[in-house]
Amino acid sequence: MEILLAKSAGFCFGVQRAVDTAYEHADEENVYTYGQIIHNEEVVGDLTKHGVQVIDSDDELLEIKDSKVIIRSHGAEKRIYDILEAGGNTVIDATCPFVKKIHNIVREEGQKGNTVVIIGDSSHPEVKGIVGWCVEPPVVIGSEEEAEAFVRKYIDGEVKTADNISIVSQTTFNYRKFNYIVDIIRNKLYNVTAYKTICNATSVRQREAQEIASKVDAMIVIGGRNSSNTQKLYEISKKECENTYYIQTLVDLDLTTFESVSRVGITAGASTPNKIIKEVHGRMDEMNFEELLKNDESRVSIK
Ligand code: F3S
Repeated sequence: MEILLAKSAGFCFGVQRAVDTAYEHADEENVYTYGQIIHNEEVVGDLTKHGVQVIDSDDELLEIKDSKVIIRSHGAEKRIYDILEAGGNTVIDATCPFVKKIHNIVREEGQKGNTVVIIGDSSHPEVKGIVGWCVEPPVVIGSEEEAEAFVRKYIDGEVKTADNISIVSQTTFNYRKFNYIVDIIRNKLYNVTAYKTICNATSVRQREAQEIASKVDAMIVIGGRNSSNTQKLYEISKKECENTYYIQTLVDLDLTTFESVSRVGITAGASTPNKIIKEVHGRMDEMNFEELLKNDESRVSIK
């Protein structure tokens, strides 16, 4: 059986950097992460065992003093840094540099007096973090419909904007949708500058999954139950390869399914640790080895 493992499977650069940062401070005194460092129960559980605790609420934020607090790759609002520093804490900033760049853009554009428009999901922590670096409350738009509504309100005089409008996007936003929304705004409003702040890690992973799934007899997609990007990889793969299996860990892998498979593909979501990917890959490799042994034994018995 040939195994095609996606090069882009698993952590992106920003998530890897944040997880590594958390492990660098494991077993030290009073270390926290602001929110779970990653949506993966195993990693969060392991870090907790090594003394890295998670804080989620404002109340907890206000309580901790003289501690180290790691900001995850999504970033956080400016006020979080202010609260932590006021409490004498050390902020260890593992915000992904691509997200940090957006914080800087919205801050600078706001300081110039421009209206900031953020294209993204307003409930997503990354977008909340970006909003928190704006000088004035920004406009957050998540869909073409919301963009149309914003433009209508502008024409009706219900919303006012500055002379210049600066648009940024959530890093994981769909590129095509971003362009549609920018066009809707550009068609009716003047002096619009759109910054391309979409990170291509997600689209690279999805493209590779599609490519591999189109060449194999079976496809394994590894990721957490609630990981929306893994779900998306599963959907993309399933379209290309009917025998696509969504597993969380090696335990979910039913090896009998792969007995007559000659080519298998493996990919994994952005929050799937390398260790799990290696275990699954290793187990498929072992299957190959076992198959070889079986063939060898049958040759011996024929003699
Ligand atoms: Fe990952 Fe940073 Fe891109 S967290 S998805 S590399 S913006």
